[in-house]
Amino acid sequence: MPGRVNTTKSGQGAGGLFPAFFRPCRTSAAGCEGAGMRYNRTVKLKDGRECCLRNGTESDGQAVVDLWRLTHGQTDYLLSYPDEGSADAAQEGRLLRAKEESPNEIEMLAVVGGAVAGSAGVAAAGTKYKVRHRAVFGISVAREYWGLGIGTALLSACIECARTAGYVQLELNAVAENARAVHV
Ligand SMILES: CC(C)(COP(=O)(O)OP(=O)(O)OC[C@H]1O[C@@H](n2cnc3c(N)ncnc32)[C@H](O)[C@@H]1OP(=O)(O)O)[C@@H](O)C(=O)NCCC(=O)NCCS
Repeated sequence: MPGRVNTTKSGQGAGGLFPAFFRPCRTSAAGCEGAGMRYNRTVKLKDGRECCLRNGTESDGQAVVDLWRLTHGQTDYLLSYPDEGSADAAQEGRLLRAKEESPNEIEMLAVVGGAVAGSAGVAAAGTKYKVRHRAVFGISVAREYWGLGIGTALLSACIECARTAGYVQLELNAVAENARAVHV
């Protein structure tokens, strides 16, 4: 596989796996809030730990770049190799800020014990009248957190946000062999 790099450990810095800036999470039933697609909710994982689902913000740039590189080296089901990511931390931070301010798109992070364990995004399929009702969904969770319910929680949260934004169709493209993604 040309350009394939094993980065299984590369995302681990001194502060643990992709430390996220501390940001309080609410445990209330409130999820996606209308204007700006703001989401903030804590869910309990299958192993009893708490997972905060919230918008990525500018200060998460480095953690999201690290997660991207890690997850893209852990599976062949994502569409790029780890060394094909083009955004640096500052650029990623700006993208996250734009998403945070967007009325119809979101990049959501799953934070466990202060570390970014996974992410999922809802992006408009297009702006033309015939596709305005459609959004595209993408998701990845770091392998060490697979099977804990994070994928399911991210999907539920993103569906809620997609509905709030007015989409009627949320699309995930997955190869048939990706049983885990198909199941989620
Ligand atoms: C797909 C992915 C996001 C799932 O995340 P996750 O946190 O492990 O998901 P969950 O723990 O919420 O749920 C996994 C579900 O798949 C099920 N599952 C696990 N392995 C499975 C398999 N081989 N076949 C069928 N189902 C399987 C689990 O039982 C669980 O279902 P349940 O909650 O009903 O018991 C994660 O595996 C991932 O990031 N994969 C690599 C990236 C990827 O494939 N992204 C999608 C690209 S299209």
